[in-house]
Amino acid sequence: MTISKQTLNKKQKMLFEEIDFVGSDKMIILNKAKLLELIDEARNQTSIVSLHDKIFELRRYLSTFKADTKGLLNIGANGDTVQINQKYLFGELRQIVETRTLDRSKYYLHRLAKAVAEQKTNKINDLNLNRWKEYEDIITDSLWILEKRDSSGVHKADYWGNFVPQIPNQLIKRYTKKGEWILDTFAGCGTTLIEAQRLGRNSLGIELQPKVVEIANNLIKSEQNNFETANEVIEGDSKEVDYKEVLTRYRQNSVQLLIMHPPYFDIIKFSNDPRDLSNAGSVNDFLSMMSVVVHKASEVLDKGRYFGLVIGDKYSKGEWIPLGFLTMQEVLKCGFTLKSIIVKNFEETFGKRNQKDLWRYRAIVGGFYIFKHEYIFLFKKK
Ligand SMILES: C[S@@+](CC[C@H](N)C(=O)[O-])C[C@H]1O[C@@H](n2cnc3c(N)ncnc32)[C@H](O)[C@@H]1O
Repeated sequence: MTISKQTLNKKQKMLFEEIDFVGSDKMIILNKAKLLELIDEARNQTSIVSLHDKIFELRRYLSTFKADTKGLLNIGANGDTVQINQKYLFGELRQIVETRTLDRSKYYLHRLAKAVAEQKTNKINDLNLNRWKEYEDIITDSLWILEKRDSSGVHKADYWGNFVPQIPNQLIKRYTKKGEWILDTFAGCGTTLIEAQRLGRNSLGIELQPKVVEIANNLIKSEQNNFETANEVIEGDSKEVDYKEVLTRYRQNSVQLLIMHPPYFDIIKFSNDPRDLSNAGSVNDFLSMMSVVVHKASEVLDKGRYFGLVIGDKYSKGEWIPLGFLTMQEVLKCGFTLKSIIVKNFEETFGKRNQKDLWRYRAIVGGFYIFKHEYIFLFKKK
């Protein structure tokens, strides 16, 4: 770590080496007034050396925390509190200590005070834009390489065809606020709803297979519902469901995020039910069915809000069928603008895991490529 020799004296340099300015991803709960008072004290210094001294003092104060039962680091917080990511806060302090001029240090302190005191959010999520650096977990690139499925709590990989919880997790954090409503029209075993419940959002799922509905609702119930939200999977055909009526059961008229993870046509046959999209007679039938679901569900989505469609392509008789792009075109006919096409790496299915060599051989012989990606199309309702 390089540090400005001009500004730190010998004692401070030793302190800098001793004190951890990196921090972990844990959240610290602090008394807001006390923190702002310490930041103000530093801002009132007239020399950079005394300002740095104050930062060291502040950093030492931040070591007096105790972890509470939820693993949050609590610094005797009472009264009006603020929760801050430790890594972010320490990073901001390190930046100030590494700064060479008084003006610049004061500017960073001003920015930090604003981040602590003011909540600046936009209309579609709860992310505090004054503390955007804190959200290291938020993916902003269009290529998602997710190494490992989140298997925490009740999340399981054993429902064939479920998506990794990180997908709904990212979408929910980016495109909803706490207490808002999410609709997933192909709920499967309830991955979206489990994530929604964890994040303090309400959610409704539609799923065709009664057995799967039961599994999903049991999983949702067995997770702690800290925010006391409503999260339920309802049995039904997402082409036929009266979404307005379903929402009125929960005294709602609309949802603020739509998520769809349909069958990728016939790649996985989910049931023998002819209403199941995996039993569509042809690609065109599949697209017509999708179009009906999108039309109907989009009626209950608020204007200006988002729709995440998760889908992959398929091969048929040696031909690559761009199912993702074909479905995207159908959605664009339904009053949406395209906001992003995210490409996400694809986990190997259980079936193919032990047949890597065989598939490589087939790919080389047949001149094709093995699917390793799927899409998350992001749309905004006009
Ligand atoms: C790809 S899976 C979704 C998995 C889900 N994202 C999860 O993580 O569990 C597609 C689901 O859509 C369901 N499905 C197929 N056709 C349907 C229809 N017409 N109405 C409602 N659900 C349907 C299937 O039974 C299957 O569970």
